[in-house]
Amino acid sequence: MEKLLRHLFQTLGRSQAANRLAKRYGLRLGAGRFVAGETLKQSIEAVRRLNERGLIATVDHLGEFVSTEEEARLSAEMCLHTLDAIDKAGVQSNLSLKLTSLGLDLNRELCKQSMKLIVERAKSYGNFVRIDMEDYVHCQPTLDLYRELREQYDNVGVVVQAYLYRTEEDVRSLSELQANLRLVKGAYKESPDVAFSDKRDVDDNFKRLIRLQLEGGGYAAIATHDEQIVAYAKEAVKELAIPNGRFEFQMLYGIAEELQSRLVDEGYRVRVYVPFGVDWFGYFMRRLAERPANVWFVLKHMMRTTRPGKGS
Ligand code: FDA
Repeated sequence: MEKLLRHLFQTLGRSQAANRLAKRYGLRLGAGRFVAGETLKQSIEAVRRLNERGLIATVDHLGEFVSTEEEARLSAEMCLHTLDAIDKAGVQSNLSLKLTSLGLDLNRELCKQSMKLIVERAKSYGNFVRIDMEDYVHCQPTLDLYRELREQYDNVGVVVQAYLYRTEEDVRSLSELQANLRLVKGAYKESPDVAFSDKRDVDDNFKRLIRLQLEGGGYAAIATHDEQIVAYAKEAVKELAIPNGRFEFQMLYGIAEELQSRLVDEGYRVRVYVPFGVDWFGYFMRRLAERPANVWFVLKHMMRTTRPGKGS
């Protein structure tokens, strides 16, 4: 049953028709637990609240179904506005983005030029840009573009996924650049030809990658809510005498908040990924696929908001 639900959410997450339908309902579907809001202003307010709890952030403007160059340009503009707003508000946050939202599939040159503008703007504010990793077909093009950007800029990092067989080799070769890497398990539906399908293999590989990245000298952003992996990372940094300035933990908005606060209390740097925007559907489906039990939370939420007198 769990496998079936996971497959259903992963498939729905890629459907433009479902995305259009969901937009009509807005965040009432329960996505508000995972998404800070539909506007930039709401995301900055969410970051401010996180900063007050000792957490730092990375803001992501959701936009996964970009099908024209015009939409890709608008998406790039939104990234620039987001960097401006972060600086103006004086909150502690950097920016995360997906290359497909900047038109990676439509016009690679446009995507590259937009990335340069965004990374340049971030640099002018002393800020940083993280390129999220999408599904397998985008892995090589994303890493290629990341390498090109690194020829000019230091304030840009990328994500690697522990479920891919190739990632160990990628981390080894990226260590030549002292790459700033966010390490994650991986959130897309992938074939066993390219990715581990057993959770234990993914977890073992995640641990190997943490050690590899820490030993390689690049910055490690360890992005997980898995207590076992967090405990492993704490042991590894202690054993390798890695200073606090060379790694951080990262978690998603609305998930494992108790663990986030606990790590802050223990003196670790913890960054929360704060997504916002009207295109929240694909992101929401991936959060449901990770933990199909979340569907009960959504159903409860829908019943509450559709009860007479309580709806909005
Ligand atoms: P795991 O799935 O084993 O979960 C461990 C525990 O965490 C669960 O038992 C549960 O308690 C809690 N948990 C996890 N997911 C939950 C959920 N959705 N709802 C409620 N509780 C949940 N992926 C990707 O492919 N590309 C990317 O760029 C990114 N970027 C990214 C940034 C950040 C900051 C994070 C934390 C994660 C990502 N991811 C990602 C997603 C990542 O690949 C992975 O799917 C999720 O982090 C879930 O895996 P965990 O490591 O938490 O472990």
